[in-house]
Amino acid sequence: MESTGSKSAQKSNQKQSNGNREKSKPNEKQGLRDLLVDELKHIYWGEKELTKALPKMIENATAEELIDALTGHMEATKEHVTRLEKVFSSINEKAEAIKCAAMEGLIKEAEGIMEETEEGMVRDAGIISAGQKVEHYEIATYSSLCSFAKTLEEDTVASLLQETLNEEKEADEKLSEIAESMQLEMAV
Ligand SMILES: [Fe+2]
Ligand SMILES: [Fe+2]
Repeated sequence: MESTGSKSAQKSNQKQSNGNREKSKPNEKQGLRDLLVDELKHIYWGEKELTKALPKMIENATAEELIDALTGHMEATKEHVTRLEKVFSSINEKAEAIKCAAMEGLIKEAEGIMEETEEGMVRDAGIISAGQKVEHYEIATYSSLCSFAKTLEEDTVASLLQETLNEEKEADEKLSEIAESMQLEMAV
């Protein structure tokens, strides 16, 4: 009983000290900056890989609206690479790509789907599904990186990343629209 009492007293002391903490410690700020840079290097690798993967997806797609959407996003993706280079230079970091296991897996999945499906509506549906998984991963990444940049008061970085985030969201919505119209066609 006594030990439980002392544990709960310790907990309440900890709570109080956390509650009193107003500003993040300098080493936390540095830690968040390191995390931002590390994640930027991973998504830089991912975007570069996507500029190689998207042409294969375009080649495998049949529906014109899907080909158009992927072609448009291919151009946007090249811009995402350039924009990340601007981000690196604005925080005086070297633009370096570190292999991102998550993006590698998503791209492999897309390639698998394209190999295993018959060309036409089904392969298109698979390409949309794989494409949306990539977009969702990018949306999650850029959302986090944007909030890290805001916390670190890196306004230029935050606004560059926000631009890319908006384009990833647009691409995801476009793919949703195409999927919906394809399903309507299939149902008729
Ligand atoms: Fe992107
Ligand atoms: Fe994207």
